[in-house]
Amino acid sequence: MFDNTRQPLDSAGEVLHSHGGHILAHEGYYYLYGEDRRAGLKVSVYRSRDLREWEYRGTALSIDSPVVGHPLTRNDRRLRNPQEQPGKTWNLGVTIERPKVLYNARTGKFVMWMHFEDGNNYRCAHAAVASCDRPDGEFVYHGSFRPCGEMSRDCTLFQDDDGRAYFISASRDNADLHIYRLSADYLSIDVMIGSYFPQQYREAPALFKRNGVYFLISSECTGWEPNQGRYSWARSIGGPWAEQRPFGSPTTFDTQPAFVLEVPGTEGKRYLYVGDRWDPTEYFHSRYIVLPLEFPDDTQLRMEWRDQVSLDAATGRIASEPGAEPLLFRVASRNTMDYLRLPPDARPGDSVGSKRLDYQDEGMLFRLETAEGGKSRVVGAAGGLALAARGDRVVAARQDEEDPAQLWTVEDRAEGLKVLRACDGRLMTAEGGGHSCCEMVLREEERWFDTEWGHSPQGFLLAAAYGREPARR
Ligand code: GAL
Repeated sequence: MFDNTRQPLDSAGEVLHSHGGHILAHEGYYYLYGEDRRAGLKVSVYRSRDLREWEYRGTALSIDSPVVGHPLTRNDRRLRNPQEQPGKTWNLGVTIERPKVLYNARTGKFVMWMHFEDGNNYRCAHAAVASCDRPDGEFVYHGSFRPCGEMSRDCTLFQDDDGRAYFISASRDNADLHIYRLSADYLSIDVMIGSYFPQQYREAPALFKRNGVYFLISSECTGWEPNQGRYSWARSIGGPWAEQRPFGSPTTFDTQPAFVLEVPGTEGKRYLYVGDRWDPTEYFHSRYIVLPLEFPDDTQLRMEWRDQVSLDAATGRIASEPGAEPLLFRVASRNTMDYLRLPPDARPGDSVGSKRLDYQDEGMLFRLETAEGGKSRVVGAAGGLALAARGDRVVAARQDEEDPAQLWTVEDRAEGLKVLRACDGRLMTAEGGGHSCCEMVLREEERWFDTEWGHSPQGFLLAAAYGREPARR
């Protein structure tokens, strides 16, 4: 069973150190690979027979892994890094993200592709390759490079029914998504199939196929903060790819896609979305959320929140518990992706600001109370103070049903975005910028400069606090 209200643990009771990962099914086991940041950046591997109990099998790849001759060929135009020489250890500062592993039946090798950075920033934009004879052995590192000379950041792998494999990654400073076909041994790029979704800034791609239709899901580019997941579909991997449509909630239930797991049960295939709920303030609180994907027809995909999902790995049968309807929300400024905060010790008259998302911070939880005329009172869950419009500022106030300054109209805008209108018609506006320095003020409604993406300081996401873990502090 997957309990989306708890940090997942391995069979030894330890926190699962696997993020941005991937599952490979091989000879009766599921192998889970993922980012493990306990000491430097490594790739961990766990295995399970039933997707319930996860046995930690150790480190699949680390900076101490052996480096073997670079097998990458013609198109790879590798940018040489002097540290990555055969025979040397891979001893440079590195960032490894989104490791994905496929099994190559021709060569009998397990091949890992991942996003590589040099540890200083995200400018390298390389893909890297490693391989192993066993699914849970020590992988041998083959180096990093830019596929066909193109930048490559968030990435995924996909293996088609005919055994061909594809590497998909965000390119051109994340503006476009590229699809490459791998060589027969999966160790290098054979050809770039195409560049898709130009200027749409998608990342966290995950690709799967159902009833002959390819689905590509991805997120927007907002770092560790969650945003609206979207999907596209195509009848051929080379496209044309349909226009992207949203799935899940405006914050994809506070997750970003890691991968989609196909479970081939006796009662038909099931598709499970596995998303990272990154914790931007404390990486080690990040965890996976697992939700079943539903398909109203061959080209549509849907995802609803479930507190618990249990899957019979043999039959593929899924039973899920929707959980109690959440009453609490977090409110994110769409411009900065900061979250509104009313600390438990706030006093009436204090200004209301925003901070970097922290799932443990009770001051980021709000209740919407319905008042007359379709209006709402926005009440901080921790201290019980309400948001009030006073002069040009939004301040905390003791709840008072007679006070019109505490009444807000929550209006819908494009793509699940909301505006909060005070009783005098002005809109709540996040002023300032960056993490922890926004203040909520009141401004006349602006002409939205970007109706599609809604990047306006007056646009907010109301994210229901689904699957909230008990606070640790
Ligand atoms: C995310 C990306 C992650 C990681 C992060 C760094 O958007 O999906 O893999 O790169 O940004 O800020």
